[in-house]
Amino acid sequence: MKAIIAAGGKGSRMYPLTFTTSKQLLPIANKPLISYVLNNLIAVGIKNIALIVNATRPAYEELLGDGSKLGIHITYIDQAEALGLAHVVKISEKFVDGDSFVYCLGDNIFTAGIGKPFKQFLRTKADALLTVIEHEENYRLGVPFFDARGKLEKVVEKPEHPPNKFGVPGLYMFSSKVFRAFKGPDGIRSSARGELEITDLYNYMITHGYKVEVAELEGQWRDPGKFDDSLETNKLILETRKNFKILGKVDKDSVLSGGVDVGAGSKITNSKIIGPVVIGDHVEIENSTIGPYTAVGNDCEIANSSVEYSILLEDVHILDVKNKIEASMIGHHTMIRKTNRKSPVYSFFVADHCRIDLPE
Ligand code: DAU
Repeated sequence: MKAIIAAGGKGSRMYPLTFTTSKQLLPIANKPLISYVLNNLIAVGIKNIALIVNATRPAYEELLGDGSKLGIHITYIDQAEALGLAHVVKISEKFVDGDSFVYCLGDNIFTAGIGKPFKQFLRTKADALLTVIEHEENYRLGVPFFDARGKLEKVVEKPEHPPNKFGVPGLYMFSSKVFRAFKGPDGIRSSARGELEITDLYNYMITHGYKVEVAELEGQWRDPGKFDDSLETNKLILETRKNFKILGKVDKDSVLSGGVDVGAGSKITNSKIIGPVVIGDHVEIENSTIGPYTAVGNDCEIANSSVEYSILLEDVHILDVKNKIEASMIGHHTMIRKTNRKSPVYSFFVADHCRIDLPE
């Protein structure tokens, strides 16, 4: 059994953060999004994994290398252009080499893991397995259509009027028979949006009489594609996290409540940390209030300020800010500080595609 992970795409809804990195490498609770996918695969015993990447390949190689630190083997496959989720499958044929495989989108989080559908796929010896989950906004997803007897008829990409409440999350399973869908005169073709669609792969398997199983996912599913979704996903992961560790120093004037992680070499002085909160390594927090639902990346510095329900990437400095910072996602090496200017003006040094919300 192998696995492939789609880790390309432009991540344009996360600009400007994704100008310099890939969406799947942005942190949720201080861990890159893709590590949640990898952990789900590792948990079911899959060790041979391909990452389908684009120009951000060097960032993945730097973080994950050949996978040996995680006890797995990672192969990198380049996808120069985002030609569709089925295109990702097509270019993985050599890697899959006749095996069955799990296919995950690199920006999806499943709180209950993938064990249940994975076991069903193995037990039923299916040619393909489609996972589904109830979703309020399933019109923006692939949607399964069932016949009167509840048998899967087809899968439709983003239908205007979904006939049921199910959507298809970014978790698919196939035997190597799926590669037949790219060959011959009845093979699948690019859609109107110029992509080889994952839904068409399933429809090919159904109409050609292959055994396609459906599994309803347990737990919660998130695919944080936008800024607000990232904050909500960060909250969910922090809320459901069980183990917190204090490795750094917390002075006697500080008060910690709820689950709080303090990384190695970090120092908390005269501050209030309201969990769940994760604080990375080499962070300094002084005379400040942090949390709840906040992730502070490595090397950050917060003094005389208050931060709640936010994600700070690495090396963010928040100094002497009078009003509470809330619902914010702040990129690497950013400084937000009070100055000694007397006039009541704002002064910004921000990149393209930023958003600044000011109070009335
Ligand atoms: O999130 C689940 C949905 O994902 C499914 O319900 C849909 O059926 C499926 O088509 C897909 O819909 P999206 O429109 O959300 O897909 P998106 O184009 O955003 O791509 C999902 C991820 O895969 C994204 O992180 C980028 C990556 N990707 C995408 C394409 C098209 C690639 O790595 N290569 C690609 O060619």
